[in-house]
Amino acid sequence: MKIIVIGGTGLIGSRLVNKLREHGHEAIAAAPNTGVNTLTGEGLAETLKGASVVVDVSNSPSWEDAAVLNFFTTSTRNLLTYEAAAGVGHHVALSVVGTNLLSESGYFRAKIAQERLIRESSIPYSIVRATQFFEFLKGLADISMVGDKVHLPPVLFQPMAADNVAGAVGKVAVGQPVNGLVEIGGPEQFRVDELVRRRLASLNDPREVIPDSNARYSGAKLSERTLVPGNNARLGETRFETWLTQPTAQIPGAHPKTNAA
Ligand SMILES: NC(=O)c1ccc[n+]([C@@H]2O[C@H](COP(=O)([O-])OP(=O)(O)OC[C@H]3O[C@@H](n4cnc5c(N)ncnc54)[C@H](OP(=O)(O)O)[C@@H]3O)[C@@H](O)[C@H]2O)c1
Repeated sequence: MKIIVIGGTGLIGSRLVNKLREHGHEAIAAAPNTGVNTLTGEGLAETLKGASVVVDVSNSPSWEDAAVLNFFTTSTRNLLTYEAAAGVGHHVALSVVGTNLLSESGYFRAKIAQERLIRESSIPYSIVRATQFFEFLKGLADISMVGDKVHLPPVLFQPMAADNVAGAVGKVAVGQPVNGLVEIGGPEQFRVDELVRRRLASLNDPREVIPDSNARYSGAKLSERTLVPGNNARLGETRFETWLTQPTAQIPGAHPKTNAA
């Protein structure tokens, strides 16, 4: 199957392209530095020729409210238009568990808009909502600074390894469109502040993490289970302590290029 991975050079995308190729699929990594830009439409018509599936695991370079909204709406509109013209039969997009509950956040208003455009299009689709990636825990600290301390609400979450995200998205991509949501998460639950503290310790990052019920996540207030997936979620296998022993955990990890907190 020819599968186009938009954002195929990123954290999830690069892992997904490798996994699809290992399973014998023709997986193409599409991103600005491979000549495909979903904001301008550059390269889309050519790359989508003969494709059965498009998986969108791109992310906005800026998380500033207007920029991120423009990124996810413009790129999703472009993708869906070019997919319809090329006869693509399945659009898969990666979103976030709890997105619908996080509209106080500019980043999540953009994800809500992305999901809506997909639902309202004529292309069969699957939206995969994942929990936070282990690789994002340092980034979560970076967007949660008050002065020189990290302030995070002590609510539950169930994060997962990027490799498990890519595996789950790959399975959805080669299956039938669900025309709805699939939730994926990690195998264990933690308190947000507790796990970010452990992650910073593993990096010898001296920042103090303060449990703060009023602290916001990317600008949104959280309740106890906002970030926890439902009972039907598909769970990844990799536990946090196991992930910490892997080479990927030695890299501090992506952080947003602009502050969305
Ligand atoms: N962070 C989390 O914990 C979390 C949890 C659940 C879901 N998600 C979702 O996961 C998705 C992927 O995140 P990620 O961390 O893997 O992203 P990432 O590593 O930042 O990668 C983003 C990708 O998008 C590409 N891209 C940027 N602008 C583009 C454009 N105009 N046209 C085409 N491609 C473009 C980038 O290409 P270049 O490198 O060439 O710019 C890169 O390949 C996001 O949609 C996010 O909402 C994240």
